[in-house]
Amino acid sequence: MNTIKAFKIRTKEETPFIQMSLERLKSNLDFFKKNLSFSSQEIFYPVKVNLQKEIVELLNKSDCNFEVGAVSEVEQLKNWGIKAFQIIFGNPIKQANHIKKAYDLGIRTFGADTENELRKISEHAPKSEVYFRIDIDNTGAEWALKGKFGTNIENLPSLFEFSKKLGLNPLGFSFHLGWNNANESTWKNVFERLDKQIIELQEKNLNLKTINIGGGFPAHLNNQYADLEKIAKVILPYLNAWRQKNIQVLAEPGSFLAANAGIMLTSVIEKVKRNGKTWIFVDSGIFQGFYWILGGLNYQIEYHGASKPKNLEKMVVCGPTCDTHDVFSEEVLLPTEIKVGDKLIIHPAGAYISSAQKYNGFDYPKQIID
Ligand SMILES: Cc1ncc(COP(=O)(O)O)c(C=O)c1O
Repeated sequence: MNTIKAFKIRTKEETPFIQMSLERLKSNLDFFKKNLSFSSQEIFYPVKVNLQKEIVELLNKSDCNFEVGAVSEVEQLKNWGIKAFQIIFGNPIKQANHIKKAYDLGIRTFGADTENELRKISEHAPKSEVYFRIDIDNTGAEWALKGKFGTNIENLPSLFEFSKKLGLNPLGFSFHLGWNNANESTWKNVFERLDKQIIELQEKNLNLKTINIGGGFPAHLNNQYADLEKIAKVILPYLNAWRQKNIQVLAEPGSFLAANAGIMLTSVIEKVKRNGKTWIFVDSGIFQGFYWILGGLNYQIEYHGASKPKNLEKMVVCGPTCDTHDVFSEEVLLPTEIKVGDKLIIHPAGAYISSAQKYNGFDYPKQIID
């Protein structure tokens, strides 16, 4: 699906750069809210997706809230004028000093999925609100988010009890269907199953105040609008049923808002014919934010020239570093006559690319010289 037609590409700007369209991001937000009946306040933008001042300001102006995974993200948001009450600290496993610092900065809502995490929160962020990340089916996700996080939903009553004993205020649970999950039946099955489990939990007098349905909505190289409409058809009845029980439903769409709102412009810096292949070297590579390619993700690569190319052939597009992994794709159809200085557009580049520089707010370790 070609999503770049709407961009007024900045042809005079020196490459490489990522061009973000705030207009598209805003229309994605509106589409998401409308199709799933969310208010802005119920949207918690996960800032790991793209932590850029203008994006944060736009979402703040639209009355959205924010989800963070590290204390440096809290500090950044607060420096840009976001209030502590707008931020939830969702990372289920946190360093104790991050919890303390976040608490000192005013954060009062934390994610968790173990008793030990609750102990840390009660010690460093007393009386805070907590919610529990649960483990659910990720079938169909292009990048599953399973295993590392999440407790079984059956553990909720005991985690609620334990939190209360520690003086914390348990709100409910969160989950994530895995990144870029376009599998309609997984969405249906997960929500149907959760609905039954929620009824059972309420029969056990569990006071569920919040359900955070996370991200996972299809975006990257999917037809995200048609896909969301289909998913909305199967999950909206459940969201509405939960809302009717006075449970507040929240969401953390990341890729759906930002992915197709960004494209990267690169220039060809060399063209080499070697061992029967044509290698196109460009001025930004996978170590400049496209690490996810190492995990198997694909991006679309398009020639951006003044005239329509006549003959196309398969070429290898690679980045400028001296590492042999620095290859975007071995099978990009490009014009035979492509030359140094020509431009390529690599997309979608609005999610998880710029933010990969200090991913999820974590810096590279400092280097100590002996
Ligand atoms: C807790 C949490 N919320 C939201 C997101 C955003 O997900 P997506 O990019 O699929 O919308 C992620 C992504 O990893 C996440 O871990």
